[in-house]
Order: sequence, then C-alpha cells, then structure tokens
Amino acid sequence: MSGIPHDHYEPKSGFEKWLHRRLPIASLAYDTLMIPTPKNLNWMWIWGIVLTFCLALQIITGIVLVMHYTPHVDMAFSSVEHIMRNVNGGWAIRYLHMNGASLFFVAVYLHIFRGLYYGSYKAPREVTWIIGMLIYLLMMGTAFMGYVLPWGQMSFWGATVITGLFGAIPGIGEAIQTWLLGGPAVGNATLNRFLSLHYLLPFIIAALVAVHIWAFHTTGNNNPTGVEVRRKSKAEAEKDTLPFWPYFVIKDLFALAVILLVFFAIVGFMPNYLGHPDNYIEADPLVTPAHIVPEWYFLPFYAILRAFDDSVWIVQFAGFITGGIIDAKFFGVLAMFGSILVMALAPWLDTSSVRSGRYRPMFKWWFWLLIVDFMVLMWVGAMPAEGIYPYIALIGSAYWFGYFLVILPLLGVIEKPLPQPATIEEDFNAHYPEKSETAGTTPTPAE
Ligand code: HEM
Repeated sequence: MSGIPHDHYEPKSGFEKWLHRRLPIASLAYDTLMIPTPKNLNWMWIWGIVLTFCLALQIITGIVLVMHYTPHVDMAFSSVEHIMRNVNGGWAIRYLHMNGASLFFVAVYLHIFRGLYYGSYKAPREVTWIIGMLIYLLMMGTAFMGYVLPWGQMSFWGATVITGLFGAIPGIGEAIQTWLLGGPAVGNATLNRFLSLHYLLPFIIAALVAVHIWAFHTTGNNNPTGVEVRRKSKAEAEKDTLPFWPYFVIKDLFALAVILLVFFAIVGFMPNYLGHPDNYIEADPLVTPAHIVPEWYFLPFYAILRAFDDSVWIVQFAGFITGGIIDAKFFGVLAMFGSILVMALAPWLDTSSVRSGRYRPMFKWWFWLLIVDFMVLMWVGAMPAEGIYPYIALIGSAYWFGYFLVILPLLGVIEKPLPQPATIEEDFNAHYPEKSETAGTTPTPAE
C-alpha cells in the first residue's frame, strides 16, 4: 500500500496461508500497524489518534444514550433528565458524550492547524486534506443536530437560526428550509430527522476516516521537516523511519492517557462548564433567549456569518451588481461556507516550494496571526452583534480570507526560505546526537 519500501506480511502457518489466499485481512492489519513512520514526528502528530478515540467514544456513548432517549417534543427534555437521574451511570454517559464532542473539536482544530503549519496539505497529500475537510463538515453537521436533541432553549433557537440560514438562499431557500425542517418551523418532525441523521453521520465519518488513513498511508506521513522519506531502497527508508508499532502506538497512547486525565477531570468536576445554562430550560417557541449563542466550536464561523451586515461596502456592492439577489443574510452564509472552502483550497493556494513552516521565516508570523485571528473570532462570536464587536468580527473575517487568498499565494513568491535538512535522519540526529553512553540503544522517536 505504501510507497515506502518495507517488510510485508508473510503468512507462515498452514491456516495463515489458507486465509491469506481467501481474505488477506492479516496482511492488511500487519501492513497498517507496521507502516514505516517518519521517526522525527513530534507531539503534534498525536491528534489523529485522539480523534479516532473521540469518534469511538461518541459512537459508543451515543448508542447507550439512544436506548433511553425519547425523540418527541413533549418528552425529549424530560427523557434527558431521566437519563441524568434514573438510568444507572446515565449522568456519566451523557457528560462523556457532551464533553466528548468538545474534546473532538479541540483535537480537530489542533490537527487542522498542525496541517496548516507543517504544510501537510501540500502535494502529494491533497486528497488526505480534502477528505479531512469533508470529515470536518460532517462533524459540524453531526454536532449541530446533536445539540438540538436535548430540546432546551438553545437547542430550539439554535436550530431555528441555523436552519433559517438556508432560507436566505434566493428563490429556493424557503422551500429548502421547509424540506429540512419537515414543516414550517422547528418541531417534532425536525427533532426526529435530526436524531436519525445524528445517529447516521458518525458512521459515514468512520468510513471517511478509513479512506483518510488509506490516503496518508499511500503517500506516507508528513513530518516536522516536510522532507520526504527516502524511497530508493529499504535500507535508506529504514534510516528515516520506525515502524508504527510499537514506537508510535506507545507514544500516542501515552499522550492520550495524559489528555484523558484532563478530560475525565472536566467530565467529573465541571461537566457543564462549556455548556449554556439556557439549555437546561425546556424549549419554548414563545420565548426567545436574550442571546442565542452556539457551542464554542462554532463561534469563529458564527462570527464570520454575522460580520457582514448591510453597512459593509462589499455587501452593498454584491447587492448592487446582483440586482438585490445577494442580501446581507445570504452574503453572511456565503462568507461562512466560503471561509471553510478557502481552507480546503489551501493545497492550491499555497505556492511555496517549501512544505514545513519551520523553514519559512515570513510564513511563521502570518500563521501565528491566523491562530490569534481564530481565537479573536471565537471570542467575538460569543459577543452580542452590537457596538464595537461587529467591526472586530469584520477585521477578523477579512484576515481569515486574506490569509488564504492573498498571503499564502504571495508568500511563495516573495519569501526566502531557510535551509532544510537533506534527510529526516539528519533532522532526527540533530535532536538526538548519538552519545557514547546511549550508543547501541534504540532512540526514542519523540521530539
Ligand atoms: C474524525 C476526524 C479525523 C481523524 C480520526 C483523523 C485521523 C488522522 C490520523 C490518525 C492521521 C495520522 C497521524 C496524525 O497526523 O495525527 C491523520 C493525518 C492527517 N490528517 Fe486527519 N483525521 C481527522 C480529521 C482531519 C481533518 C478535519 C483534517 C483537515 C482537513 C485532517 C487532515 C489530515 C492531514 C493533512 C493528515 C496528514 C498528516 C501527515 O501526513 O502527517 N484530518 N489524520
């Protein structure tokens, strides 16, 4: 499967040979587990395993929750309270699922920004990146629909606002919105279809994760230097890599254990910290909450959505040239989806011949500014859309688009990169110079 030369599975016993001729499943498992992995991977390469763990956690806890949950507008809210109070360990299952979603998004953002810094999206890993973006979109859809299920005030009003965005599409918007909701407003039909899709989508995500892993096993992993593994011979490749098992499995499991210590502390001691208190009030279509705020992981994109109101010149300009078809609301929707689209197009917008940000002195600054921008957008997304906040959101949104559409293409032309190591082995040895007392022992792959 991989382009990196390495040992492949050889069936030994009679049974193994028999099975291998019929279903080479042991070979698939062996080659996946023993895949040659760049030996200089640092701690930012652990998030893939954390994400895999989160997906499994969400599916397992979700399946148990569904056993006790009732998807009906009259009973959904109290069935969640029933889970919390009467079901054995129900509170733990629910809090694991609730906070598991947050851990999932922490991991996915770190995973994405890791990719953006080390240029993991660049050729030949564009397909891995695009599949990752599809996974991310599905994660957002799944989380959004899941949040509607407890049928609290934020569930109801969040669903009303977000499905209302589809209504902003000129001409066909209202029809799409009604079709999505299963009626003229968020109601019982909406709740049922959201549960159905919320249950289905994680399995589609799981299938996409398999393809994601297949894709980067085909190209081989990127690494902090962005320099490729040498592939001319097995001997050369072995100097740049270590097998995934046991080296990276143990490292990843150690990192996961540390992360889970923090995670369980949050689940046990402050499980509602990231939630909104209004969601403990049952949904009431007649009472609008003072501020409708989405979950923290949607906030940066929610800020972009709200940044473009009627007073922004580009919105007025778009309205003018389209004869009023594009209004502020529709512009906001386009901007929100556009902000994810430009990120998906990073492999083609980044013109630099150097992959890793480590050797790109100008890029580094702009990248860290993008991180700050993301945090600012997250903060401003939680603020009311009045006073100075819309201006901050607008500047933040402009930088987001500017980074991908202007800075990335331009930097490749004007930036003078730093010298890169010739091989991964060279980078590794620079971090772990062979000392006489350690000579002969196996080096650890961590940075
Ligand atoms: C359920 C969600 C996801 C899972 C389970 C997952 C899993 C993984 C794993 C296990 C790896 C290899 C090790 C590592 O880099 O940590 C990886 C690599 C990668 N992922 Fe993801 N991923 C997910 C979502 C995403 C998303 C949303 C993106 C961004 C678009 C993305 C982009 C990448 C890229 C570019 C690589 C290659 C990095 C390399 O070659 O070293 N992934 N992913």
